[in-house]
Amino acid sequence: MSLLHNRKVLLGVSGSIAAYKSAHLVRELIKRGAEVQVVITDAAKDFVTPLTLSTLSTRPVYSAFIENDQKAYGVWNNHVEMGLWADLMVIAPASSNTLSKMATGACDNLLTAVYLSAKCPVFVAPAMDLDMYANGATTDNLKLLEERGIGVIDSDFGELASGLVGKGRMAEPEAIADHLEGYLKASLPLSGKKVLINAGPTHEHIDPVRFLGNNSSGKMGAALAAAARDLGADVHLILGPTQAALDLQGIQVKRVTSADEMLEAMLFDFTQSDLTICTAAVSDYRPATRAEHKIKKSDEGETLTISLEKTPDILQTLGTQPERKGYLIGFALETRDGEVYAKAKLARKNADAIVLNTLGKKGVGFEGDTNEVMVFTAEGKTFSFPLTSKITLGKSLLELFMNEFDLSNA
Ligand code: C5P
Repeated sequence: MSLLHNRKVLLGVSGSIAAYKSAHLVRELIKRGAEVQVVITDAAKDFVTPLTLSTLSTRPVYSAFIENDQKAYGVWNNHVEMGLWADLMVIAPASSNTLSKMATGACDNLLTAVYLSAKCPVFVAPAMDLDMYANGATTDNLKLLEERGIGVIDSDFGELASGLVGKGRMAEPEAIADHLEGYLKASLPLSGKKVLINAGPTHEHIDPVRFLGNNSSGKMGAALAAAARDLGADVHLILGPTQAALDLQGIQVKRVTSADEMLEAMLFDFTQSDLTICTAAVSDYRPATRAEHKIKKSDEGETLTISLEKTPDILQTLGTQPERKGYLIGFALETRDGEVYAKAKLARKNADAIVLNTLGKKGVGFEGDTNEVMVFTAEGKTFSFPLTSKITLGKSLLELFMNEFDLSNA
Protein backbone atom coordinates (compact mmCIF):
# COMPACT_ATOMS: atom_id res chain seq x y z
CA MET A 1 0.00 0.00 0.00
CA SER A 2 1.27 3.47 -0.84
CA LEU A 3 2.36 5.70 2.03
CA LEU A 4 0.07 8.31 0.48
CA HIS A 5 -2.93 6.12 1.30
CA ASN A 6 -5.47 8.12 3.35
CA ARG A 7 -3.21 11.19 3.34
CA LYS A 8 -4.84 14.57 2.81
CA VAL A 9 -2.98 16.37 0.06
CA LEU A 10 -3.58 20.01 -0.79
CA LEU A 11 -2.57 20.57 -4.41
CA GLY A 12 -1.92 24.15 -5.42
CA VAL A 13 -1.93 24.81 -9.16
CA SER A 14 -0.44 28.06 -10.41
CA GLY A 15 -0.15 29.64 -13.86
CA SER A 16 2.24 27.73 -16.04
CA ILE A 17 1.70 25.68 -19.17
CA ALA A 18 2.67 22.68 -17.01
CA ALA A 19 -0.69 23.12 -15.24
CA TYR A 20 -2.09 20.61 -17.77
CA LYS A 21 0.05 17.98 -16.00
CA SER A 22 -1.64 18.72 -12.69
CA ALA A 23 -4.62 16.68 -13.95
CA HIS A 24 -2.29 13.67 -14.19
CA LEU A 25 -0.89 14.51 -10.78
CA VAL A 26 -4.38 14.47 -9.24
CA ARG A 27 -4.98 11.04 -10.81
CA GLU A 28 -1.65 9.74 -9.59
CA LEU A 29 -2.26 10.91 -6.02
CA ILE A 30 -5.81 9.49 -6.02
CA LYS A 31 -4.49 6.21 -7.45
CA ARG A 32 -2.10 6.00 -4.49
CA GLY A 33 -5.02 6.46 -2.10
CA ALA A 34 -4.65 10.14 -1.18
CA GLU A 35 -7.51 12.60 -0.68
CA VAL A 36 -6.81 15.58 -2.89
CA GLN A 37 -8.08 19.13 -2.49
CA VAL A 38 -7.14 21.45 -5.35
CA VAL A 39 -6.64 25.20 -4.99
CA ILE A 40 -5.98 26.95 -8.27
CA THR A 41 -4.91 30.48 -9.20
CA ASP A 42 -6.80 32.51 -11.81
CA ALA A 43 -3.80 32.35 -14.14
CA ALA A 44 -3.76 28.56 -14.00
CA LYS A 45 -7.37 28.38 -15.19
CA ASP A 46 -6.16 29.45 -18.65
CA PHE A 47 -4.19 26.20 -18.86
CA VAL A 48 -6.43 23.67 -17.13
CA THR A 49 -10.10 23.87 -16.20
CA PRO A 50 -11.29 23.65 -12.60
CA LEU A 51 -13.95 21.22 -13.88
CA THR A 52 -11.27 18.76 -15.00
CA LEU A 53 -9.54 18.94 -11.64
CA SER A 54 -12.73 18.75 -9.58
CA THR A 55 -13.93 15.74 -11.58
CA LEU A 56 -10.64 13.93 -11.07
CA SER A 57 -10.31 14.84 -7.39
CA THR A 58 -14.06 14.36 -6.71
CA ARG A 59 -14.03 17.60 -4.70
CA PRO A 60 -14.86 21.19 -5.61
CA VAL A 61 -11.83 23.17 -6.72
CA TYR A 62 -11.29 26.43 -4.87
CA SER A 63 -9.85 29.53 -6.41
CA ALA A 64 -11.10 32.68 -4.69
CA PHE A 65 -11.87 33.67 -1.12
CA ILE A 66 -15.50 33.97 -2.25
CA GLU A 67 -16.48 32.02 -5.38
CA ASN A 68 -18.55 34.01 -7.90
CA ASP A 69 -21.54 31.70 -7.81
CA GLN A 70 -21.51 31.69 -4.01
CA LYS A 71 -21.33 35.48 -3.62
CA ALA A 72 -25.07 35.73 -3.18
CA TYR A 73 -24.83 33.45 -0.16
CA GLY A 74 -21.62 34.95 1.17
CA VAL A 75 -19.81 31.55 1.39
CA TRP A 76 -16.19 32.04 2.42
CA ASN A 77 -13.48 29.58 1.32
CA ASN A 78 -11.63 29.37 4.57
CA HIS A 79 -7.90 29.38 3.83
CA VAL A 80 -6.99 28.71 7.46
CA GLU A 81 -9.19 25.61 7.64
CA MET A 82 -7.74 24.27 4.38
CA GLY A 83 -4.21 24.96 5.58
CA LEU A 84 -4.88 22.97 8.74
CA TRP A 85 -6.76 20.14 6.98
CA ALA A 86 -3.79 19.01 4.90
CA ASP A 87 -1.15 16.42 5.82
CA LEU A 88 0.95 17.63 2.89
CA MET A 89 0.78 20.60 0.52
CA VAL A 90 2.33 20.55 -2.93
CA ILE A 91 2.27 23.41 -5.40
CA ALA A 92 2.67 21.94 -8.85
CA PRO A 93 3.31 23.71 -11.06
CA ALA A 94 4.82 26.49 -9.00
CA SER A 95 5.24 29.49 -11.32
CA SER A 96 7.94 32.10 -10.75
CA ASN A 97 5.19 34.54 -9.71
CA THR A 98 3.79 32.17 -7.05
CA LEU A 99 7.31 31.33 -5.80
CA SER A 100 7.99 35.03 -5.46
CA LYS A 101 4.77 35.57 -3.48
CA MET A 102 5.61 32.62 -1.25
CA ALA A 103 9.06 34.05 -0.58
CA THR A 104 7.78 37.50 0.35
CA GLY A 105 4.60 36.41 2.12
CA ALA A 106 2.27 38.15 -0.32
CA CYS A 107 -1.15 36.57 -0.12
CA ASP A 108 -3.36 38.30 -2.65
CA ASN A 109 -4.96 35.05 -3.78
CA LEU A 110 -6.44 31.99 -2.08
CA LEU A 111 -3.50 29.72 -2.93
CA THR A 112 -0.84 31.89 -1.29
CA ALA A 113 -3.13 32.59 1.70
CA VAL A 114 -3.62 28.83 2.17
CA TYR A 115 0.15 28.37 1.88
CA LEU A 116 0.80 30.94 4.61
CA SER A 117 -1.71 29.17 6.88
CA ALA A 118 -0.43 25.65 6.20
CA LYS A 119 1.07 23.85 9.19
CA CYS A 120 2.01 20.73 7.20
CA PRO A 121 5.14 20.07 5.10
CA VAL A 122 5.00 22.07 1.85
CA PHE A 123 6.60 21.18 -1.48
CA VAL A 124 6.94 23.11 -4.71
CA ALA A 125 7.50 21.73 -8.20
CA PRO A 126 8.73 24.76 -10.19
CA ALA A 127 7.87 25.06 -13.87
CA MET A 128 8.90 27.92 -16.11
CA ASP A 129 11.00 28.82 -19.10
CA LEU A 130 14.75 28.24 -18.73
CA ASP A 131 15.72 31.93 -18.49
CA MET A 132 13.06 32.64 -15.86
CA TYR A 133 14.31 29.61 -13.96
CA ALA A 134 17.92 30.73 -14.18
CA ASN A 135 17.10 34.33 -13.19
CA GLY A 136 18.65 35.37 -9.90
CA ALA A 137 15.25 36.38 -8.53
CA THR A 138 13.91 32.84 -8.99
CA THR A 139 17.02 31.08 -7.72
CA ASP A 140 17.12 33.39 -4.67
CA ASN A 141 13.43 32.76 -3.97
CA LEU A 142 13.90 29.01 -4.21
CA LYS A 143 16.94 29.16 -1.94
CA LEU A 144 15.02 31.20 0.61
CA LEU A 145 12.05 28.84 0.51
CA GLU A 146 14.35 25.84 0.92
CA GLU A 147 15.98 27.52 3.93
CA ARG A 148 12.51 27.87 5.43
CA GLY A 149 11.95 24.13 5.07
CA ILE A 150 9.98 24.03 1.82
CA GLY A 151 10.78 20.93 -0.23
CA VAL A 152 11.80 21.76 -3.78
CA ILE A 153 11.01 19.05 -6.33
CA ASP A 154 13.56 20.00 -8.92
CA SER A 155 12.55 20.75 -12.49
CA ASP A 156 13.63 18.50 -15.31
CA PHE A 157 15.86 19.37 -18.22
CA GLY A 158 14.24 19.11 -21.63
CA GLU A 159 12.18 20.76 -24.32
CA LEU A 160 10.11 23.67 -23.03
CA ALA A 161 6.87 25.16 -24.31
CA SER A 162 8.83 28.07 -25.81
CA GLY A 163 10.71 25.64 -28.05
CA LEU A 164 13.91 26.25 -26.12
CA VAL A 165 15.70 23.36 -24.47
CA GLY A 166 16.87 23.66 -20.88
CA LYS A 167 15.93 23.29 -17.26
CA GLY A 168 12.43 24.31 -16.27
CA ARG A 169 10.06 21.45 -17.13
CA MET A 170 7.92 20.50 -14.18
CA ALA A 171 8.87 17.11 -12.73
CA GLU A 172 6.61 14.33 -14.02
CA PRO A 173 3.50 13.59 -11.90
CA GLU A 174 4.80 10.11 -10.95
CA ALA A 175 8.11 11.65 -9.83
CA ILE A 176 6.25 14.23 -7.73
CA ALA A 177 4.13 11.51 -6.08
CA ASP A 178 7.30 9.41 -5.54
CA HIS A 179 8.98 12.42 -3.95
CA LEU A 180 6.09 12.85 -1.50
CA GLU A 181 6.19 9.13 -0.70
CA GLY A 182 9.94 9.33 -0.18
CA TYR A 183 9.43 12.19 2.27
CA LEU A 184 6.81 10.18 4.20
CA LYS A 185 9.06 7.13 4.22
CA ALA A 186 12.03 9.11 5.56
CA SER A 187 9.92 10.27 8.50
CA LEU A 188 9.03 6.71 9.57
CA PRO A 189 10.72 5.31 12.70
CA LEU A 190 12.69 2.53 10.96
CA SER A 191 13.63 4.58 7.90
CA GLY A 192 17.21 3.82 6.86
CA LYS A 193 17.27 0.62 8.96
CA LYS A 194 17.87 -2.80 7.43
CA VAL A 195 15.77 -5.72 8.63
CA LEU A 196 16.61 -9.30 7.62
CA ILE A 197 14.07 -12.08 8.16
CA ASN A 198 13.93 -15.74 7.22
CA ALA A 199 10.65 -17.61 6.97
CA GLY A 200 8.97 -20.77 5.77
CA PRO A 201 10.26 -24.33 5.73
CA THR A 202 13.32 -25.76 4.08
CA HIS A 203 13.22 -28.77 1.79
CA GLU A 204 16.10 -31.20 2.06
CA HIS A 205 16.17 -33.45 -0.96
CA ILE A 206 16.35 -37.22 -0.69
CA ASP A 207 16.31 -37.69 -4.45
CA PRO A 208 15.23 -35.46 -7.37
CA VAL A 209 11.51 -35.75 -6.46
CA ARG A 210 11.34 -36.29 -2.68
CA PHE A 211 12.36 -34.17 0.23
CA LEU A 212 12.25 -33.80 4.01
CA GLY A 213 10.23 -30.75 4.95
CA ASN A 214 7.48 -29.40 7.16
CA ASN A 215 4.23 -27.45 6.98
CA SER A 216 5.56 -24.02 7.88
CA SER A 217 3.68 -21.37 5.86
CA GLY A 218 6.07 -18.45 6.36
CA LYS A 219 3.10 -16.31 7.47
CA MET A 220 4.64 -15.14 10.76
CA GLY A 221 7.88 -14.10 9.05
CA ALA A 222 5.99 -12.37 6.24
CA ALA A 223 3.84 -10.51 8.80
CA LEU A 224 6.98 -9.30 10.58
CA ALA A 225 8.49 -8.30 7.23
CA ALA A 226 5.33 -6.33 6.33
CA ALA A 227 5.31 -4.63 9.74
CA ALA A 228 8.99 -3.63 9.36
CA ARG A 229 8.30 -2.35 5.83
CA ASP A 230 5.37 -0.25 7.07
CA LEU A 231 7.66 1.27 9.70
CA GLY A 232 10.00 2.38 6.91
CA ALA A 233 12.70 -0.30 7.08
CA ASP A 234 14.49 -1.74 4.09
CA VAL A 235 13.42 -5.39 4.41
CA HIS A 236 15.07 -8.51 3.01
CA LEU A 237 13.11 -11.73 3.36
CA ILE A 238 14.79 -15.08 2.78
CA LEU A 239 11.86 -17.35 2.07
CA GLY A 240 11.78 -21.13 2.01
CA PRO A 241 9.38 -23.07 -0.25
CA THR A 242 5.81 -22.11 0.70
CA GLN A 243 2.59 -21.94 -1.29
CA ALA A 244 0.90 -19.48 1.11
CA ALA A 245 -0.38 -16.18 -0.28
CA LEU A 246 1.80 -13.58 1.42
CA ASP A 247 1.87 -9.76 1.32
CA LEU A 248 5.37 -9.25 -0.06
CA GLN A 249 4.91 -5.84 -1.69
CA GLY A 250 7.88 -3.55 -1.12
CA ILE A 251 9.93 -6.38 0.42
CA GLN A 252 13.07 -7.76 -1.23
CA VAL A 253 12.44 -11.48 -1.35
CA LYS A 254 15.02 -14.19 -2.04
CA ARG A 255 13.57 -17.66 -2.45
CA VAL A 256 15.65 -20.59 -1.29
CA THR A 257 15.05 -24.31 -0.87
CA SER A 258 17.51 -25.92 1.54
CA ALA A 259 19.03 -24.98 4.91
CA ASP A 260 22.41 -24.52 3.20
CA GLU A 261 20.95 -22.05 0.70
CA MET A 262 19.10 -20.22 3.46
CA LEU A 263 22.28 -19.92 5.53
CA GLU A 264 24.24 -18.60 2.56
CA ALA A 265 21.55 -15.97 1.80
CA MET A 266 21.34 -14.92 5.46
CA LEU A 267 25.11 -14.59 5.78
CA PHE A 268 25.18 -12.41 2.68
CA ASP A 269 22.96 -9.74 4.30
CA PHE A 270 23.60 -10.30 7.99
CA THR A 271 26.50 -7.92 8.63
CA GLN A 272 24.52 -5.03 7.15
CA SER A 273 21.39 -5.82 9.11
CA ASP A 274 20.20 -3.75 12.08
CA LEU A 275 17.65 -6.38 13.08
CA THR A 276 17.62 -10.04 12.05
CA ILE A 277 14.67 -12.29 12.83
CA CYS A 278 14.88 -16.04 12.28
CA THR A 279 11.33 -17.35 12.01
CA ALA A 280 12.12 -20.12 9.53
CA ALA A 281 11.29 -23.71 10.43
CA VAL A 282 14.63 -24.95 9.20
CA SER A 283 14.83 -28.71 8.84
CA ASP A 284 17.18 -29.97 11.56
CA TYR A 285 18.34 -32.95 9.51
CA ARG A 286 18.88 -33.75 5.87
CA PRO A 287 19.75 -36.94 4.01
CA ALA A 288 23.48 -37.55 4.26
CA THR A 289 23.51 -38.09 0.50
CA ARG A 290 21.12 -36.98 -2.22
CA ALA A 291 20.42 -39.75 -4.71
CA GLU A 292 21.14 -38.68 -8.26
CA HIS A 293 18.10 -40.56 -9.59
CA LYS A 294 14.68 -41.29 -8.12
CA ILE A 295 15.00 -44.07 -5.55
CA LYS A 296 13.11 -47.08 -6.90
CA LYS A 297 10.83 -49.24 -4.83
CA SER A 298 12.81 -52.37 -4.03
CA ASP A 299 11.24 -55.83 -4.26
CA GLU A 300 13.43 -56.98 -1.41
CA GLY A 301 12.65 -55.88 2.13
CA GLU A 302 9.83 -53.74 3.58
CA THR A 303 11.96 -50.88 4.85
CA LEU A 304 14.29 -48.29 3.44
CA THR A 305 16.86 -46.66 5.66
CA ILE A 306 17.95 -43.12 4.93
CA SER A 307 20.87 -41.88 6.87
CA LEU A 308 20.47 -38.27 8.09
CA GLU A 309 22.97 -35.62 9.08
CA LYS A 310 22.46 -32.31 10.86
CA THR A 311 21.82 -29.16 8.88
CA PRO A 312 23.64 -25.99 9.90
CA ASP A 313 21.93 -24.08 12.71
CA ILE A 314 21.42 -20.73 10.97
CA LEU A 315 20.47 -18.74 14.06
CA GLN A 316 23.42 -20.10 16.04
CA THR A 317 25.82 -19.46 13.17
CA LEU A 318 24.63 -15.84 12.92
CA GLY A 319 24.82 -15.45 16.71
CA THR A 320 28.53 -16.27 16.66
CA GLN A 321 29.54 -14.13 13.69
CA PRO A 322 32.42 -11.90 14.82
CA GLU A 323 31.25 -8.92 12.73
CA ARG A 324 27.73 -9.02 14.16
CA LYS A 325 26.40 -5.48 14.73
CA GLY A 326 22.60 -5.70 14.78
CA TYR A 327 20.05 -7.36 17.02
CA LEU A 328 19.24 -11.03 16.55
CA ILE A 329 15.90 -12.65 17.37
CA GLY A 330 15.00 -16.34 17.18
CA PHE A 331 11.76 -18.27 17.33
CA ALA A 332 11.11 -21.46 19.26
CA LEU A 333 8.34 -23.96 18.75
CA GLU A 334 7.92 -26.35 21.65
CA THR A 335 5.38 -28.95 22.65
CA ARG A 336 6.39 -29.04 26.35
CA ASP A 337 8.48 -27.06 28.87
CA GLY A 338 8.50 -24.17 26.41
CA GLU A 339 9.88 -21.55 28.76
CA VAL A 340 12.81 -23.71 29.87
CA TYR A 341 13.78 -24.68 26.33
CA ALA A 342 13.27 -21.16 24.98
CA LYS A 343 15.55 -19.62 27.61
CA ALA A 344 18.20 -22.28 27.00
CA LYS A 345 18.01 -21.51 23.27
CA LEU A 346 18.39 -17.78 23.93
CA ALA A 347 21.74 -18.41 25.62
CA ARG A 348 22.98 -21.20 23.34
CA LYS A 349 22.23 -19.31 20.15
CA ASN A 350 23.50 -15.98 21.46
CA ALA A 351 20.25 -14.22 20.49
CA ASP A 352 18.91 -10.95 21.94
CA ALA A 353 15.42 -12.42 22.29
CA ILE A 354 13.49 -15.62 21.63
CA VAL A 355 9.83 -15.71 20.65
CA LEU A 356 8.14 -18.85 21.91
CA ASN A 357 5.06 -20.50 20.39
CA THR A 358 3.72 -23.48 22.27
CA LEU A 359 2.42 -26.01 19.80
CA GLY A 360 -0.70 -27.94 20.74
CA LYS A 361 -2.85 -24.94 21.63
CA LYS A 362 -5.63 -24.17 19.18
CA GLY A 363 -4.72 -21.31 16.81
CA VAL A 364 -1.03 -21.28 17.72
CA GLY A 365 2.01 -22.03 15.57
CA PHE A 366 2.83 -23.18 12.10
CA GLU A 367 0.24 -22.99 9.34
CA GLY A 368 -2.66 -20.87 10.58
CA ASP A 369 -3.35 -17.14 10.49
CA THR A 370 -3.21 -16.65 14.27
CA ASN A 371 -0.60 -17.05 16.96
CA GLU A 372 0.02 -16.57 20.67
CA VAL A 373 3.57 -16.08 21.90
CA MET A 374 5.86 -15.20 24.78
CA VAL A 375 9.07 -13.26 24.31
CA PHE A 376 12.17 -13.73 26.48
CA THR A 377 14.97 -11.20 26.17
CA ALA A 378 18.66 -11.68 26.95
CA GLU A 379 18.23 -9.00 29.61
CA GLY A 380 15.83 -11.31 31.43
CA LYS A 381 12.53 -9.64 30.55
CA THR A 382 9.41 -11.60 29.61
CA PHE A 383 6.48 -10.39 27.49
CA SER A 384 3.23 -12.20 26.65
CA PHE A 385 1.11 -11.64 23.55
CA PRO A 386 -2.38 -13.21 23.61
CA LEU A 387 -3.93 -15.04 20.67
CA THR A 388 -4.28 -12.69 17.73
CA SER A 389 -3.76 -12.61 13.96
CA LYS A 390 -0.19 -13.02 12.77
CA ILE A 391 -0.50 -9.63 11.03
CA THR A 392 -1.37 -7.88 14.31
CA LEU A 393 1.22 -9.88 16.20
CA GLY A 394 3.89 -8.93 13.65
CA LYS A 395 3.18 -5.25 14.34
CA SER A 396 3.18 -5.72 18.12
CA LEU A 397 6.46 -7.66 18.04
CA LEU A 398 8.12 -4.99 15.90
CA GLU A 399 6.94 -2.35 18.37
CA LEU A 400 8.39 -4.37 21.22
CA PHE A 401 11.74 -4.76 19.44
CA MET A 402 11.81 -0.99 18.79
CA ASN A 403 11.14 -0.29 22.47
CA GLU A 404 13.55 -2.86 23.85
CA PHE A 405 16.40 -2.37 21.42
CA ASP A 406 18.09 0.76 20.18
CA LEU A 407 16.52 0.64 16.71
CA SER A 408 14.16 3.48 16.15
CA ASN A 409 15.17 6.82 14.69
CA ALA A 410 12.30 8.42 16.56
O1 C5P B 1 16.79 -25.28 17.94
P1 C5P B 1 15.46 -24.94 17.41
O2 C5P B 1 15.20 -25.46 16.03
O3 C5P B 1 14.32 -25.27 18.31
O4 C5P B 1 15.47 -23.32 17.35
C1 C5P B 1 14.53 -22.56 16.68
C2 C5P B 1 15.17 -21.31 16.17
O5 C5P B 1 16.40 -21.64 15.53
C3 C5P B 1 14.34 -20.60 15.12
O6 C5P B 1 14.61 -19.22 15.19
C4 C5P B 1 14.87 -21.22 13.84
O7 C5P B 1 14.68 -20.33 12.72
C5 C5P B 1 16.33 -21.41 14.14
N1 C5P B 1 16.95 -22.56 13.48
C6 C5P B 1 17.95 -22.32 12.57
N2 C5P B 1 18.59 -23.37 11.95
C7 C5P B 1 18.24 -24.63 12.22
C8 C5P B 1 17.23 -24.89 13.15
C9 C5P B 1 16.60 -23.84 13.74
O8 C5P B 1 18.25 -21.16 12.31
N3 C5P B 1 18.85 -25.61 11.60
